[in-house]
Amino acid sequence: MPDHRQTVALVTGGGRGIGHAIVRQLAREGAAVAVLDLDGAVAEGAAAELKAAGHRAVALTADITDPTAVEAAVAAAEAALGPLTLLVNNAGFTDAGDLVGLSLDSWRRETAINLDGPYHCLRAVLPRMAARGAGAVVNIASVNGVRFFGNPAYSAAKAGVINLTLAVASEYGRHGIRCNAVLPGSVRTANRSWEIRLEKDPRVFDKLARWYPLGRVAEPEDIARAVSFLGSADAAYITGASLPVDGGLLAGMNVMIEEFILESKD
Ligand SMILES: NC(=O)c1ccc[n+]([C@@H]2O[C@H](COP(=O)([O-])OP(=O)(O)OC[C@H]3O[C@@H](n4cnc5c(N)ncnc54)[C@H](O)[C@@H]3O)[C@@H](O)[C@H]2O)c1
Repeated sequence: MPDHRQTVALVTGGGRGIGHAIVRQLAREGAAVAVLDLDGAVAEGAAAELKAAGHRAVALTADITDPTAVEAAVAAAEAALGPLTLLVNNAGFTDAGDLVGLSLDSWRRETAINLDGPYHCLRAVLPRMAARGAGAVVNIASVNGVRFFGNPAYSAAKAGVINLTLAVASEYGRHGIRCNAVLPGSVRTANRSWEIRLEKDPRVFDKLARWYPLGRVAEPEDIARAVSFLGSADAAYITGASLPVDGGLLAGMNVMIEEFILESKD
C-alpha cells in the first residue's frame, strides 16, 4: 500500500464520483487532503467525512475555469494544511455526444473545464512545488484522449491533458516534479453523461461490460488506487506516463474479435 503520510494533496472535483474515491483513498493512506469542488456542499461533506475519520482535510469551493479563484483556493489549501506535495486534476465534465449536436457554447464550456481548468491549477501549483524542489501531479484524462468514443469536445480536451502531462514532465523534472496521467474507461459514477445514458437505458453499465476484456466497467476505487500509486514515492521514477485504467478497453477490439474472428471459426 502506498504511504501518503507525508502527502498534502489537493484534489479537484473531490466532492463526488472518482474525485471522492481519490480523497478517501489518499486520506486512508495518511494524506492531508484539500477537497476542491465547484459545489461547496459536496466539498464540505467530503472534508467533514474525512475529518470525522481522524484525517486532516479542508473544503474549498472554487470553479477551476476561473484562474483567480484557483489561485486563492491553492493559497487557502496551503494555509490550512501546509505546502502541497500532490495535485490531482480530476474535475471534468461532458454532455455533448457528437459533433453535429455540439454548439460553440458547449465546445467552449467543455474545453474550459477539461483543459483550461487543469492548466489553471498547474499554473497555481507548479511554481510553489518548483520553489521547494519536489512535487507530483496526476491528471485524470480518459481513454477518449487517445481513441474516439464520442463526446468530441471532451475528447479533444482530454487529448490536450495528455500532452500537457508530457509538457509538465519534461519541463519540471529538473525541479523534482513528476507528472502522470490516468486514462479511465467507463467508470460507474453519477456524472452528467452517465445520467443521460442511464435515463435512456438503466442497464447501460451491464451492457457496456462486454466491451471490456475484464468483463466489467470500473468502480471509482479502481481509478483511485492508480492515482494513489502514481502520486506516491512508489512511482518515484515514473513521469510523463499515460496509464490506461480501463479493464483492457484500449488493448484491442474484443467485441469485433468475438463476433467476426472467433465466430468465423465455427
Ligand atoms: N465516469 C467516467 O466514466 C469517466 C471516464 C473517464 C474519465 N473520467 C474523468 O474522471 C473525472 C471525474 O469524473 P466523474 O465521473 O467522477 O465526474 P462527477 O461529475 O461524478 O464528479 C465531478 C466533480 O467535479 C466537480 N466539478 C465540475 N466542474 C467543476 C469546476 N469547473 N470546478 C470545480 N469542480 C468542478 C463537480 O461538482 C463534481 O463534484 C473527470 O475528469 C472525467 O472526465 C470519468
